[in-house]
Amino acid sequence: MSLNSFLVALTIVALAQGASLGQDERVRYDNYSVYKVRFETQEQRNLLRKLAEGRENFRIWYEANDELHLMITPGALSDFNSEIHRTNISAKMFISNVQELIDSEEDANLRASRDGSFGWKKYNTLDEIYAWLDEILANYPAVTESFALGQSYEGRTIRGIKISYKSNNPGVFIESNIHANEWITSATATWLINEFLTSTDELVRNLAESHDWYIVPVLNVDGFVYAHEKNRMWRKTRQPSNISSCIGVDPNRNYDSRWMENEGASSDPCSEFYGGPHPFSEPEIQAMADFVGSIKDKINVLLAFHSYSQLLLSPYGHTNEEFPPNYDDLMAVAKAYGDAVERLPYGTVYRYGSVAEILYFATGATNDWAYEQGVEIAYTIEFRDTGRYGFILPPVQIIPNAEEALIGITALLDKCEELGYLKPKNTQ
Ligand SMILES: *[C@@H]1O[C@H](CO)[C@@H](O)[C@H](O)[C@H]1NC(C)=O
Ligand SMILES: *[C@@H]1O[C@H](CO)[C@@H](O)[C@H](O)[C@H]1NC(C)=O
Ligand SMILES: *[C@@H]1O[C@H](CO)[C@@H](O)[C@H](O)[C@H]1NC(C)=O
Ligand SMILES: [Zn+2]
Repeated sequence: MSLNSFLVALTIVALAQGASLGQDERVRYDNYSVYKVRFETQEQRNLLRKLAEGRENFRIWYEANDELHLMITPGALSDFNSEIHRTNISAKMFISNVQELIDSEEDANLRASRDGSFGWKKYNTLDEIYAWLDEILANYPAVTESFALGQSYEGRTIRGIKISYKSNNPGVFIESNIHANEWITSATATWLINEFLTSTDELVRNLAESHDWYIVPVLNVDGFVYAHEKNRMWRKTRQPSNISSCIGVDPNRNYDSRWMENEGASSDPCSEFYGGPHPFSEPEIQAMADFVGSIKDKINVLLAFHSYSQLLLSPYGHTNEEFPPNYDDLMAVAKAYGDAVERLPYGTVYRYGSVAEILYFATGATNDWAYEQGVEIAYTIEFRDTGRYGFILPPVQIIPNAEEALIGITALLDKCEELGYLKPKNTQ
């Protein structure tokens, strides 16, 4: 079967299936599987990308320069298998039923909710996170400050917390949950906030008190609420398009930084990587840019939390032929993070490099935009895991992942200090 007739056949399968909404109108993923597909030639890569454009049946979970993770509907599976067999592409299933993972995550959330407390044995909702933030702000008024980036498309407030123990500290900005389905990111960000305020460990005290922290636990608030209530796998924002019935933009392709260059984002509103009708079309991203822009002289380091794949990704996203002037330092700083994490008993391995080197061309992302604003240390950090659970990382892994982030960030900032990146910036 040619690729085109294969795609036509798949479309028919998908239309016959219709949308699979459960009784409570949540999108269900019964028997959806996820495959790791390795490719060697550009031809194979193109074929897989073309395949993934059949969005009724395929979703890209992860893409790198040698590997793709594809979620596949049960109806498309046998055709998928014969197609990759025909083209000699090696594929390995790592999730046999996505709904099963969602169900066990939900069970764990429910069990942990019975004692009614906010915590890190479960994934908290936006309401729970905001109620907890209010508690934290009330309990630590001398060293915390609430801030708001602005309003989301659906009118929610995008909140953040500043933690500052003394003046003239270097600034670290943490952006989290820009992608709605990456729940480990806000779980980790809130755990870090808690540690910075409550830990008595000397290492943590020193880390917390010698930096000013600006932490936004959930940037894509609309998408996050939608992922909790309707569709666990939702990634984008929730603003409708006026050229398509598909909703939302990939907010991490929406910054005014090389926007849409080199196919670094999709112009198709139905794509998971849609860059939007224009840069900053998403109010959440405009708000983030306005806020960070207004304090950029105080920000030495920006970390954007993502999942999954255990990577530190530095600028640039638009080219792998040109590198930032301080590329060597960026690599040294990333290595410090990776080495520190790997030394922990979990032995988790992080890889690092520029976005375009390790993954693919991606433009309009937070780290590139921040770098252009003069934040010379700007990373995307992709947390656990490498694909066993993907986005649906079991809640028992929240604290181990957060501990790794804490140790990694400590080592990263030590290296930044050593290389001279934590000096006050507004000196010129
Ligand atoms: C999932 O697959 C199993 C085994 O093939 C089958 O028994 C079950 O009915 C399927 N579930 C749904 C919802 O299609
Ligand atoms: C597929 O792989 C086999 C064995 O490795 C090889 O003989 C064959 O030529 C390959 N086919 C294609 C289409 O690459
Ligand atoms: C959407 O509609 C508005 C109002 O008509 C228009 O200004 C805007 O350019 C449109 N956007 C796109 C992407 O077509
Ligand atoms: Zn992400």
